[in-house]
Amino acid sequence: MRVVCVLASAVILACAASVSAQELTFRSIIDKSPLDVTPKPGEVVTDAVNAFRRTGQNPYTGKADAVAQGKKLYIEYCESCHMSDGSGRMGPSLIEDYHVYEEIKTDAGLFEIVFGGGFGAMQPFSKRLSQDEILKVMAYVRTLMKP
Ligand code: HEC
Repeated sequence: MRVVCVLASAVILACAASVSAQELTFRSIIDKSPLDVTPKPGEVVTDAVNAFRRTGQNPYTGKADAVAQGKKLYIEYCESCHMSDGSGRMGPSLIEDYHVYEEIKTDAGLFEIVFGGGFGAMQPFSKRLSQDEILKVMAYVRTLMKP
């Protein structure tokens, strides 16, 4: 009996360790191939990025500082196609109920679209923004969306 208990607790500990260290796999919205989230040279993997990789939840959502930084990034990198209010021009509306990709509704899906890109003009932002910046821009995009 004792051996069984020891074994069982070892298994539980091993499971707990692997769950806490486990990172989600993010996939291309187009072909579902895994996205390479290896940081670019010099890119800092922040606590927020680490937490996001484990949970798929954007820790910056609703955080005023991050949203303010995300707004600046949005104006620089996204506004030309999606408009300042997200209503869309060359790129689709980000704020209506209808979406090109249903995945937009979850943080993990929104990250997959922005990081990995879509078709046409929606290039992958993995090359131009850090993953931390993408989380900030996502937090700002969420403030534009209708509740
Ligand atoms: C040069 C124009 C352009 C820029 C700049 C651009 N996008 Fe896009 N975006 C598009 C187009 C076009 C699509 C539609 C892609 C498709 O159909 O695969 C799109 C699609 C999207 C979608 C999916 C919308 C849906 O309905 O599912 C999201 C989210 C998005 N863009 C966010 C962003 C963010 C955030 C930025 C800035 C970091 C950005 N885009 C910059 C053109 C652009």
